[in-house]
Amino acid sequence: MKLVHTVAELREEVAAAKAQGLTIGLVPTMGALHEGHASLIKAANMENDFVVVSVFVNPTQFGPNEDLDAYPRTLEADCKLAESMGANVVFAPAPKEMYPSEDATWVEVTGDITKVLCGRTRPIHFRGVTTVVTKLFNLAQPDRAYFGQKDAQQVEVLKRMVKDLFFNIQLRIMPIVREADGLAKSSRNTYLNEAERKAALVLSRSLKAAKEQYEAGERDAAKITAAVTASIKEESMSDIDYVEIYALPELKPVAAPMAGSNLLAVAVKFGTTRLIDNVVLEEK
Ligand code: PAJ
Repeated sequence: MKLVHTVAELREEVAAAKAQGLTIGLVPTMGALHEGHASLIKAANMENDFVVVSVFVNPTQFGPNEDLDAYPRTLEADCKLAESMGANVVFAPAPKEMYPSEDATWVEVTGDITKVLCGRTRPIHFRGVTTVVTKLFNLAQPDRAYFGQKDAQQVEVLKRMVKDLFFNIQLRIMPIVREADGLAKSSRNTYLNEAERKAALVLSRSLKAAKEQYEAGERDAAKITAAVTASIKEESMSDIDYVEIYALPELKPVAAPMAGSNLLAVAVKFGTTRLIDNVVLEEK
């Protein structure tokens, strides 16, 4: 496996792979890789001849009071994990390499899809994600790109971008990987102290209960979100940002009664750490 830091080096690797007629799988990440990321790299390795993993803590998707500086950076361990999962190249650029000029060109998906859920409190977040992912798509020229359902709104926004900009790239969405006790794996879990980590289990627990409630026939979205909210509030360390249901695809307002496929998504702070989790509610 090769570690490259510059756009020119990545382009060389991609050109060489293309010249051999290899298919390319891209796994964009911000590093601090865990088993969630590993599952994406593994899938990319199974479905493509050549796998590029990017490790880049993208400054443009962090708000002014967010954790850009504190975000864990563990490139050496990331390379080991990427290699063990079958990556051919790790692309770890410096911010200047990805954003060479002061004035940036933005790629922005507009409308409610980027304004609801995380968009409400993180107004520039998705613009940063779509801009950096576009740059990565243009550099790696992948046949397929791999993303996790953990970031369900990101998935919907990226699907919309790919459709609107005619990117000839297949998005492959992988299920949420969880710890044995249910906590969704996240690079931000390392911020949690012992008590917060224990409290955070309320998220997966209440989402599981909501799924059971739905499967038992409940189709009133307000009743489901009320039950999840109440159960999260029982945990005194929790501070709820949102507990909401939107219709899939594209996060449209949920129908009453609920029909089709719907996303129940939560964002909750434990101490200073904001965690997200979700479950899709749909007929079997
Ligand atoms: P990051 O948070 O590092 O996540 C990289 C990818 O791994 C995302 O597609 C995310 O959904 C997926 N992922 C994270 N935790 C997961 C889990 N527990 N199970 C399954 N997949 C999981 O998401 C980003 O980085 C950035 O926004 C990025 C797309 C790289 C753009 O900067």
